[in-house]
Amino acid sequence: MAIAGIVAGGTGSRMGNTVPKQFLPLCGRPVIVRTIEKFIGREGIDAVIVGVNPDWYDHMQSLISEYFPAGVYAARGGADRSDTIVNIIRYAIDDLGYDQDEILLTHDAVRPFVTEKMISDSIDAMSHCEICTAAVGATDTMLISEDGQTASGFPLRSTMYRVQTPQTFRMGRFLSMLSAVPQDRRGEITDACSVFHRQGVRVCIIGGSESNIKLTFPADFAAAEGFIRASGKE
Ligand code: CTP
Repeated sequence: MAIAGIVAGGTGSRMGNTVPKQFLPLCGRPVIVRTIEKFIGREGIDAVIVGVNPDWYDHMQSLISEYFPAGVYAARGGADRSDTIVNIIRYAIDDLGYDQDEILLTHDAVRPFVTEKMISDSIDAMSHCEICTAAVGATDTMLISEDGQTASGFPLRSTMYRVQTPQTFRMGRFLSMLSAVPQDRRGEITDACSVFHRQGVRVCIIGGSESNIKLTFPADFAAAEGFIRASGKE
């Protein structure tokens, strides 16, 4: 049994819309609704908890009432992505009564193309990993730059991966790993895996996909609408 924790607490500043991108329509249905649909009712998923910015909490509750009769809950998002995960975990334990050893699949609200296989592979990986993430091998050559002006290194492309979600772990472990990160280093954390990696925990990789895109810029919406129309499953 596992819980899906959909992180939806961001404001989508790079999208440049007053409405956060997760609430924008994609071929007629809000992105967040399409993402939740990928988890609700899936084998192994017991509940879906969405962490939303408090300003959008009432809107999220209305979407839940409209689209999901049972099994989907709204929690309040946090100041950063990790805080949103903490709030989802607290909601799962304190409000829904789950044990801290339950598995949590954290997933970006703005990745509506997550697949059933990614979800089942994530749950299966918990039999031998403390944390796993979806990732895809880099197709572009990557460079490292400290100053944004000049390259300081060119890592071997065959060893480079782009990190996606789901990222999966047991809830209590995330809380204890995060509490070990000094407050002044919290800004460096953009995902849950780096929290575990800092403490020397092995991070396992499950197969992501090129289509599991994170909607970030307006052009991503055009591409996503193209995928949906081409799939014939609007
Ligand atoms: N997120 C969150 N809580 C925050 C910040 C981000 O739950 N305090 C979520 C976003 O809602 C999104 C995911 O983390 O689903 C990935 O973040 P990103 O794509 O960077 O989203 P935003 O922070 O909304 O976008 P931007 O960086 O352009 O402002």
